[in-house]
Amino acid sequence: MTYLRDKLQTLAALPPDRPMGMPGGFYTSQDQFEHEARTVLRSGWHCLGRVDEVPEPGDFFTAQILNEPLLVVRGDDSAVRVLANVCRHRGMPLAEGRGNTKRFVCSYHAWAYGRDGGLLRAPRMENAGFDAKSCKLPEHTVQLWNGFIYVNLDASAKPFEHAELDDMLAPYKTADFRLVHVAEEDWQTNWKCLVENFMEGYHLSVVHPQTLHGYTPSGLSRKLISGDGYTSYAANYPDNITPRGDGAPGLSEAERKRSSLFAKFPTQVASQAASLLVSLSIFPIHANLIRVKWTMSVYRDNLDHDTIQQRIALWEEVNREDREKLERMQVSLHSAHAVEGPLAGDDYEGTIRDFQIWLAQQDAALGVA
Ligand code: FES
Ligand SMILES: [Fe+2]
Repeated sequence: MTYLRDKLQTLAALPPDRPMGMPGGFYTSQDQFEHEARTVLRSGWHCLGRVDEVPEPGDFFTAQILNEPLLVVRGDDSAVRVLANVCRHRGMPLAEGRGNTKRFVCSYHAWAYGRDGGLLRAPRMENAGFDAKSCKLPEHTVQLWNGFIYVNLDASAKPFEHAELDDMLAPYKTADFRLVHVAEEDWQTNWKCLVENFMEGYHLSVVHPQTLHGYTPSGLSRKLISGDGYTSYAANYPDNITPRGDGAPGLSEAERKRSSLFAKFPTQVASQAASLLVSLSIFPIHANLIRVKWTMSVYRDNLDHDTIQQRIALWEEVNREDREKLERMQVSLHSAHAVEGPLAGDDYEGTIRDFQIWLAQQDAALGVA
């Protein structure tokens, strides 16, 4: 693992005109994964989903990051909280899936918690030393940004700011998009492989000839802004494509005729187009397995029901195409011959280099083994 950490520093320091990708072990080693779980993943801000997944008080959904089961719930005060989904009695998860509830009742001994995580009732608990007030569910650090919900497992985490990325998304009115679809699936790949795959335009025409090539051919990919904790690129549409739905009124012609793809490191990748927003939250499970949650949102009433259904079907197919490639690659990445390989230029794979440089910085700052 020292080898991989040193390699990361060495490759991230290469000059921009000779970038190299990391060797296979970076994506397959369980030691490397556990190191990341203690460092870059533990200290990162993770997108859990969209704010309008929980529009009403009592709406909730569950998630899990590393070893932490989470309960995302809208409170009576309308705040979105992320609570530990772990009963304060003997550790049972309190909720599963999604729904709406007045109280969370543990399925083991029926302790009941309010929407803010406070313990309301604990049947037969008559010991003098029992103090219900001290049995509140712990609350994680939360930040809302552009209609997304983020959590940080580090209680001392400082809020994040991405001023330039905010400026890039502002004309799209990302926060105004409304949710139309949520799905979750497990992929047998490493979490970093999906970040890299989603964020490079090099593969679009090869892997997605029927689904994406017509809209976003590889040759029109252009690097956009990057900064501390994020990167982005434009997947531009050919001139003969007329995008469906105009999106927000302030969008420029160029913004209307491209998908702006961004990654918020470590685990969110998203595609923002005029009328469609797709976001993937990656939940790393082990070196060779992730859970992917993806959401699709549309700009106000821009798209009709049939078009939305077509878009969902299209993205299901796109995800299937990527998954098939990544799962096959995950096998060959175990090879002794999966050494570092040369990356393409900025417009095609510059985002992978940005990710590598960010990982190297994080590892240098956090990675005292
Ligand atoms: S573990 Fe939840 S009530 Fe006992
Ligand atoms: Fe893809």
